[in-house]
Amino acid sequence: MSIGVFDSGVGGLTVHRMLVERMPAADFVYLADQANAPYGGRPGEEIVALTRSGCETLFAAGANLIVLACNTASAIALRTLQQTWLPDLRKTLGRPVNILGIIVPTIEAATGVPWSQQHAAAVPPAARRETVGIFSTPATTASEVYEIEMGKRRPDLGVTSEPCPSLARLIENGAGAVELATVVENHVMALRTRIGRAPDRAILGCTHYEIVADMFRAALPPGTPLIHQPGATADAICVYLERHPEYPAGTDGTRRFLTTGTPGKQSPLVEAFWGAPLSFEAA
Ligand code: DGL
Repeated sequence: MSIGVFDSGVGGLTVHRMLVERMPAADFVYLADQANAPYGGRPGEEIVALTRSGCETLFAAGANLIVLACNTASAIALRTLQQTWLPDLRKTLGRPVNILGIIVPTIEAATGVPWSQQHAAAVPPAARRETVGIFSTPATTASEVYEIEMGKRRPDLGVTSEPCPSLARLIENGAGAVELATVVENHVMALRTRIGRAPDRAILGCTHYEIVADMFRAALPPGTPLIHQPGATADAICVYLERHPEYPAGTDGTRRFLTTGTPGKQSPLVEAFWGAPLSFEAA
């Protein structure tokens, strides 16, 4: 049995890397749905269908717990799959399987409030002294998941999202540094305009963006804290696995990297982030 990690493409590697750091002995199988990336501009029903198909591949490859290392899939598909697909699938497979997302741990880290704690009293916008900026795909932005769920837990925080329609695709395609930095700078500028000043903290709410986190750091005012989604997710998954021994994570330290796209080497941009050559097998 192994831990499955799913993303539309290479963004989920940022989460995979932190999971491996926390659980070096566990067995992992990663699936990048590169044939269908990016997800962020697709309609919701397509995101649900593609995420389900990716999870089927990972369960068939021996995963028992899947981490959706993708904000778009976590925001749009996770609840539907948990409620309408997993109960029957467990009966069919005859073993415990589950799918977890990355937005819950990120919001817990950003708010300092456990997910189960909600319904804090409303605070009028003018009284909100701190603003968290979210950079995300158009689908995640449109879902307003960060605004809604952070608002339920920390109504004293302002939350403003900036959709970045081309950025995941550029990162997926291994675009050059100058082009990427320009796009990142433009989005940081646009978010500042939207808020009326710089955000006090920021979330890279698309796992692809973590690959260019240094460009966001350079474009934001120096020292702006970035909430580290991969680290927050890895911490939460470790706690979950300790509490759920029905999902054994394996002990052989195996790593498989699958793609629905073209198998083989990943781009120099991804390999620079990864720090080693990285080759994907056909899913
Ligand atoms: N990496 C993904 C996310 O976190 C998806 C990007 C995309 O496919 O548009 O949202």
